[in-house]
Amino acid sequence: MDLMEYQAKTVFAKHGVRTTVGEVVTTPEEARAAAEKIGGRVVVKAQVKTGGRGKAGGVKLASSPDEAEEKAREILGLDIKGHVVKILNIVPAAAIAEEYYFSFLVDRANRNYLCIASAAGGMEIEEVAHTNPEAVAKISIDPATGVDEAKAREIAVAAKYPEDVLDAVVPEIVKLYDVFIAEDASLVEVNPLVKLADGNVEALDGKVTLDENADFRHPEHAEFEDIAAADPLEAAAKAKGLNYVKLDGSVGIIGNGAGLVMSTLDVVAYAGEEFGGVKPANFLDIGGGASAEVMANGLEIIISDAQVESVFVNVFGGITACDAVANGIVQAFELLASRDEHVTKPLVVRLDGNNAEEGRRILDEAGLAGLERVDTMDGAAKRAAELAAK
Ligand SMILES: Nc1ncnc2c1ncn2[C@@H]1O[C@H](COP(=O)(O)OP(=O)(O)OP(=O)(O)O)[C@@H](O)[C@H]1O
Ligand SMILES: [Mg+2]
Repeated sequence: MDLMEYQAKTVFAKHGVRTTVGEVVTTPEEARAAAEKIGGRVVVKAQVKTGGRGKAGGVKLASSPDEAEEKAREILGLDIKGHVVKILNIVPAAAIAEEYYFSFLVDRANRNYLCIASAAGGMEIEEVAHTNPEAVAKISIDPATGVDEAKAREIAVAAKYPEDVLDAVVPEIVKLYDVFIAEDASLVEVNPLVKLADGNVEALDGKVTLDENADFRHPEHAEFEDIAAADPLEAAAKAKGLNYVKLDGSVGIIGNGAGLVMSTLDVVAYAGEEFGGVKPANFLDIGGGASAEVMANGLEIIISDAQVESVFVNVFGGITACDAVANGIVQAFELLASRDEHVTKPLVVRLDGNNAEEGRRILDEAGLAGLERVDTMDGAAKRAAELAAK
């Protein structure tokens, strides 16, 4: 789960990292009140889960409460790379002397943690990494020994942070590592980490990704979830316990087992090329022991996606045999009808594996409207793509 800047800074503050959380507002009037409360010059910052907010006009300085209201009006509703701004963070304008880049992340390829840091911080770090890679230090961190003061100093020197900030930056690095470990984060990024005019070092921005696999250790992280911002179908699927990811195409996909669903996406995308680039509309794994109810819930989610033109149900019978899945599909149609939801989109079903023959017979006998049976994966993918293209 990605956190917004103000949430990341809240987590930083909890671990003693020097930062300013400021005020969180959702209207221009509240922005004015926040600026009045803070006093002096403030910065109005768009809270969206994407980078490049400053460049997109989502970070603006305001010299008075009037101006804060005006800037808030400009930034609210702004579309930044597909993310519409609904929340603002109002913070006091900092007296910035220098801007640096700093991050901890999980280095999966090397089964290690990695610190990326550079004295060339601010908004252009991707550009720096590209044109002047020597300016960006990459320091691997052994999870067994972590980051103590000595390691933090090694990092700061490798990053070429100036001599005169070392004493101020070292403790901040140790505390940022504490955030990374204690919160089970897979990313902690501060850009910019700034040297203030008074010599202190402060995290002026924050980007944190929390590892959802560790949610059970962090009931307090639930407060960071914003269901409203997620795709409404994804939110509905999550509420029903389904593994669902919305994609951009028009063929709805249901399969049992993550591996089968992933290969189904590939096969559909490949088959779709023949029909003008038809693509999968989603990933939906209903798991091994799919009951009629799970099948009905899955179908309900997929057919309520307006982009879906056809649905491909791809099942390989294992412990849950194909006859049980076929009965599940038949019952799912009945269940949906009882909820006053009808399967109005063409459905292509491929059943293979354990008890496939029996499963196919059950489907044939049920004679469900709009349902076609194709017995090979490639053939079924092709038919589903063709139906979606019509
Ligand atoms: N409190 C502040 N006081 C003064 N200047 C600020 C403050 N916050 C941000 N800035 C300036 O605005 C720039 C951009 O801010 P910030 O890093 O928060 O957004 P961003 O980098 O554009 O967003 P992202 O990190 O999502 O790409 C900073 O590099 C800094 O120069
Ligand atoms: Mg930034």
